[in-house]
Amino acid sequence: QTIFLADYTPPAYLVEDVHLTFRLAPSATRVISRIRFVPNPDAKSRDFFLHGQELTLIRATIDGAEVTPEITEAGLTCAVPDAPFTWEAEVEIDPAGNTALEGLYMSNGMYCTQCEAEGFRKITYYPDRPDVMAPFTVRIEGDAPVMLSNGNPTGEGRGWAEWTDPWPKPAYLFALVAGDLVAREDSFVTMSGKEVALRLWTRRGDEGKTAFGMEALKKSMRWDEEVYGREYDLDIFQIVAVSDFNMGAMENKGLNIFNTSAVLASPETSTDANFERIEAIIAHEYFHNWTGNRITCRDWFQLSLKEGLTVFRDQQFTADMRSAAVSRIEDVMALRGRQFREDNGPLAHQVQPDSFVEINNFYTATVYEKGAEVIRMLKALVGDDDWRRALDLYFDRHDGQACTIDDWLKVFEDTTGRDLSQFRLWYKQAGTPRLTVTDDFAEGTYTLTIKQQTPDTPGQTDKKPMLIPVAVGLLNPNGDEVVPTRVLEVTEAEQSFAFEGLAAKPIPSLLRGFSAPVILTRDTSAEERAFLLAHDTDPFNRWEAGRALAKDVLTAKVTGRDGPERPYLDALAALLRDEGADPAFKALALRQPGEDDIAQTLFDAGHSPDPDRIHDAAETLKQQAAEHLQDIIPRLAAEMTIDAPYAPDAEQSGKRALRLGLLDLTTRLDGGAEAEAVHAVADNMTLSLGSLGCLIEAGRAEAALAAFHARWQDDALVLDKWFTTQIVHAAPGDAVSIAERLSRHPDFNMKNPNRFRAVFGALAMNPAGFHAADGSGYRLMAEWIARLDPVNPQIAARMTTAFETWRRYDGDRKQMIRGALEGIARTPGLSSDSGEMVARILGAA
Ligand code: ARG
Ligand code: ZN
Repeated sequence: QTIFLADYTPPAYLVEDVHLTFRLAPSATRVISRIRFVPNPDAKSRDFFLHGQELTLIRATIDGAEVTPEITEAGLTCAVPDAPFTWEAEVEIDPAGNTALEGLYMSNGMYCTQCEAEGFRKITYYPDRPDVMAPFTVRIEGDAPVMLSNGNPTGEGRGWAEWTDPWPKPAYLFALVAGDLVAREDSFVTMSGKEVALRLWTRRGDEGKTAFGMEALKKSMRWDEEVYGREYDLDIFQIVAVSDFNMGAMENKGLNIFNTSAVLASPETSTDANFERIEAIIAHEYFHNWTGNRITCRDWFQLSLKEGLTVFRDQQFTADMRSAAVSRIEDVMALRGRQFREDNGPLAHQVQPDSFVEINNFYTATVYEKGAEVIRMLKALVGDDDWRRALDLYFDRHDGQACTIDDWLKVFEDTTGRDLSQFRLWYKQAGTPRLTVTDDFAEGTYTLTIKQQTPDTPGQTDKKPMLIPVAVGLLNPNGDEVVPTRVLEVTEAEQSFAFEGLAAKPIPSLLRGFSAPVILTRDTSAEERAFLLAHDTDPFNRWEAGRALAKDVLTAKVTGRDGPERPYLDALAALLRDEGADPAFKALALRQPGEDDIAQTLFDAGHSPDPDRIHDAAETLKQQAAEHLQDIIPRLAAEMTIDAPYAPDAEQSGKRALRLGLLDLTTRLDGGAEAEAVHAVADNMTLSLGSLGCLIEAGRAEAALAAFHARWQDDALVLDKWFTTQIVHAAPGDAVSIAERLSRHPDFNMKNPNRFRAVFGALAMNPAGFHAADGSGYRLMAEWIARLDPVNPQIAARMTTAFETWRRYDGDRKQMIRGALEGIARTPGLSSDSGEMVARILGAA
């Protein structure tokens, strides 16, 4: 059943307040609700409907009198007075039997909830839509030592606890946690001098992994005050770590719930990348308190209103906490790896979709990461001062409301007097715009001509030109910047921009900082790319120049042409020798473009990519780089050793990243001897796991893998890494059989989303392995998706994206993938989550 944005109607009844009582029992929890409803003066209808799924209704009353509602699979209807009234109901639910991990469920003996987007309807009957906001009081009865909900604690006694959240909120922000938990406690004094208690809860045994998360929380709270003037608004802020969780984390008001992988960290068990991600997710969820909770979404078509903005804010935070250049490069790599892939395949959709079947399928890279890029462009267009003024107006005007993306854009129009109707197309046109640039130089005037075109996407053709900010700088042939960064506003299908008064033809640095989420092409020589890698003042574009060179090398190799190996390897050598360059930057420049990226590039150029050839090309280039750089590597690697105690900061992480990048090359020369030495003495997970990856690729990891398992078998998050690394680093011919063997390992457990992804997400990340020519990767993936679907439809549906690139490949592979997808589609009782995804991937929806 498809839901349309155009069908939005205001709720018939609003909720004045909510009282919930939970009598906890693993397979028979009772939920007693008392809800004050008032007719909505803005509504057209007076039909009373409450969402409810998988609930057993015990009794219901209206103003104290027993009623018998009409119940369907989706909810209930009932005759109600045409005036304010009190609804009371008691339902029974089964948290222990809830393997979908949506609603109230159990994880490791602890009760927890996930309600976004539509999980609250599995807890009790309620208008489960984000434009119904109410204050909640929650009483929890049970024998768990710790029982938590949103807001402030307002009472407790033997076997019960009460929490009150004074801030009106939609049901998707409800949370409850109960169990034998331990807390790291701290406090924060807000900018107006209010003291807030901070608690980070874990199960017993994980207390040692909470220090970093707590620091990240305090930094986030301070940053939101300093940069956006946003103060926290309750007496207490809590985070709970949960082992079984579908996503990264959830911003429930005052009680964030986190996947353990997104909050727990220690140097022995977590990599530098883990630390960085945790800091960003803690910031993200905390920032939602204003962009998401105080100001929420009117309906789920507005999801990017809160997610795009909050991702943008967490990206700004990371840029401030770490290296701005490095974090921008990492953001763009992630955008290209996931969002461009999505936007250029059958799952392409708008940042603001017009329709959906299952909203959980739209928590995507497009809604999140492209949504954040749209916000970034908006900021670039209006400038920093108007950005800040507009945000102040947004918080002021819309506090306490459930808003739309149009409300957001109106704030910018009112602040700047600009008409943003063309800019709004970024929300409504799917697909990655293509920019083609040509240039010309005559009589001191340099002219850039930019053409734009957005390809057709499912259900959307004939796209209009968009407003695209293209940041440009010009360098002269000596390497000096003659025109500093200026933002060109491209609005037409084809448009020219002139730069006058130049002594010589300049070298353009285009799309600086990746100023728009587009694919830009311009005939550029290898010399010019090497020049930009050496001289550009924009660090993103320096990296981009090296990246483009590497892509040219790899695509040439795959298609059997002569590529610019020499200029690429020389430029790399020059960069590695450059004492002034940051190790983190060197490490990023050393990293080759991913095999999936090369596949898409080849497909765009009219080839059907061969995953094995791409893998071989990548391996050959690595070997060549190792040989070409062998004089530099040992000295540089030695410089990257760290004597200070481990710290997951930008500086040390950069050094370790470069050290591991070099170790990867050294492994091509010494067969893994040095990797073995590094692995033997590694006292942090970054070096331990990095060197283990090298050993796997060198084919000498058997003993190390066994020892790693023995050492970490009681640490689920480290064991996840053990599963993943074996598959990601497997030779293409072995990846599927290793994944298959690991799926039979006693530590494999498909009910745990992290563990399922550790195996099958990893298989999808080994393109040459997953796309094995015999179809074994497709069959294994499809079989497990079908098996998981009845247990956890959200994760099963998400995993189908492994197939989203199928149209790129040759006829045999296409046919095998189609067969695999049709097999999933035929599974009896398939969820609407997976059903929608498979239909869209096949192009049948
Ligand atoms: N709002 C959460 C976040 O961005 C994600 C929740 C996703 N939940 C879901 N069922 N898709 O941090
Ligand atoms: Zn979010």
